[in-house]
Amino acid sequence: MAAQNPTKVRLAETEIEIWPNDVAVQDWVEPNVKIAVFNDTAAFHSRLVERTLALESDPALAKPFPGYAGSAKVYHLERWDCPEAELIHRRAIELFKRSLGTQNAAVDLSWANIYREGDYCLPHSHVRATASIVYFLELGLDPGSDSASGDAGQGRFCFADPRLKVCCREEEHAMTTPGGPTACNGMMIMFPGKIVHMVDVFKRPGPRITLSWNVNEYPVPGSPFPE
Ligand SMILES: [Fe+2]
Repeated sequence: MAAQNPTKVRLAETEIEIWPNDVAVQDWVEPNVKIAVFNDTAAFHSRLVERTLALESDPALAKPFPGYAGSAKVYHLERWDCPEAELIHRRAIELFKRSLGTQNAAVDLSWANIYREGDYCLPHSHVRATASIVYFLELGLDPGSDSASGDAGQGRFCFADPRLKVCCREEEHAMTTPGGPTACNGMMIMFPGKIVHMVDVFKRPGPRITLSWNVNEYPVPGSPFPE
């Protein structure tokens, strides 16, 4: 395990800053939705995708879900024995700290979501989460395809919550317009855990892989898994 407060993570061939100087935390339309885009994905994404897919068959970490729940999950990034997973895990913690201006962060649960053709995720909130964080590791789109095109079947991440003005463009508190950021590989987004969100159906071979965290300033008693 690395030192207590490291600023870098050692990968196989290089050392990478947990939070590079060129990465800013930005508001996405709503001030309680934060975004950071990392530009160093070439240094670790392929190994992290490889590790995620390998762990999909590990019964200690993985759990299959039907398509409506976002498909296969691989839990507990901190147990992956993988420096690339440690790097992105530390980045998620750092986004939480920077966004909320706190030195305290306790990850309640972390997991990967692996979408294949036909998978989607119905609207939901997260429990036990001051903030939820999603990292777009691999959008799984066709080469040359642009996630900004808005084409159907891209597995688009959307907010669908009447508490967000951006979702209520016609009348206050009337959720008529699901919407979200134009995702790219390397984008990390953070939002209040109770904000309702969803993933539209994914109609590509895939895989589309995202990583998720539920984070609070202090640990929440009990288990994040329902009985
Ligand atoms: Fe979610």
